[in-house]
Amino acid sequence: MAESEARKILFVCLGNICRSPSAEAILRSLVQTREDKSEWEIDSAGILDLHEGLRSDSRGLEVLRDHGISNHHRARQVREDDFRNFDVIFAFDDSNVADLNEFFRPADGSARAKVELFGTYDPKGKRIIHDPYYGDISDFEKMFDHIYRCCEEFLRQSN
Ligand code: 4NP
Repeated sequence: MAESEARKILFVCLGNICRSPSAEAILRSLVQTREDKSEWEIDSAGILDLHEGLRSDSRGLEVLRDHGISNHHRARQVREDDFRNFDVIFAFDDSNVADLNEFFRPADGSARAKVELFGTYDPKGKRIIHDPYYGDISDFEKMFDHIYRCCEEFLRQSN
């Protein structure tokens, strides 16, 4: 399949150091077990530019490592062009959705990405994926499980 037909997925959370880089790493790892891995482009970004260029939160990295998943992402802020380059922008809570639409959606109608809450794919019905930043490692483990379930269901529906 030509590169232009790749499925282009961008995950966006507030800081781009906990939820979205974890989702990026988990989805990429699941996609790599499928035959069509060349069809996917997966990235993540944040509403804030506070952590620009930094690696993900060490607690999130630890949980990913425990599951054999690597993550080399460096945080970056979302940009208007992301709305033109990606097919889907997955947000994690209602504030992410509001911020994306208010501050980053191109005003000239050139967006092709649709913005969706990733948690709508949760088979357990938890549509908000909470920020674990002020929690402890158990919150990062819960976040991992939540995102993993959503990734599996998203891929099942993408077949
Ligand atoms: P994330 O978590 O949105 O899942 O990356 C956060 C990390 C840092 C901050 C907020 C949320 N912060 O305000 O520094």
